[in-house]
Amino acid sequence: MIFEQLKPQIENIVSNSNKTVDERLFDICELLESHIDYYNWVGFYFANSDKKELHLGPYVGEPTDHTVIPFGKGICGQVAISNENFVVPDVAAQDNYIACSITVKAEIVVPIFVNDENIGQIDIDSNTANPFTEADERFLEFVCAKVAKLLL
Ligand code: SME
Repeated sequence: MIFEQLKPQIENIVSNSNKTVDERLFDICELLESHIDYYNWVGFYFANSDKKELHLGPYVGEPTDHTVIPFGKGICGQVAISNENFVVPDVAAQDNYIACSITVKAEIVVPIFVNDENIGQIDIDSNTANPFTEADERFLEFVCAKVAKLLL
């Protein structure tokens, strides 16, 4: 199972104190995008709670115009408020969705909690329709828990 193989590599990246936090977050994006064929854009957004905005952090994939997303807008903005995973099998069926690229068919967003606070999220776009299962959710929750330790 690819996820089990990737978990120790995530741990290695997170514990690499020779690199900055952003470099390690970028390495995680690269690892996921390059090893999971239906992960086509992988990035982090971080919350600015005062402004009620998400700000784009490290990512791998096509550049996006959506570097700042208000809480509540799009899939990402909804997760900033709901504190829950959001799995979108078909982005065309979503009313509150921000399109980054016409090639994207599906999306998954998993929040990152530091001291029980939703401080950001990992966002993954897929060019494959309906690719995500509960295994993706469990794996991405693992990734987010490791990232949370990095941000403590
Ligand atoms: N599709 C997201 C916006 C971010 S991009 O996927 C990079 C959304 O609806 O929130």
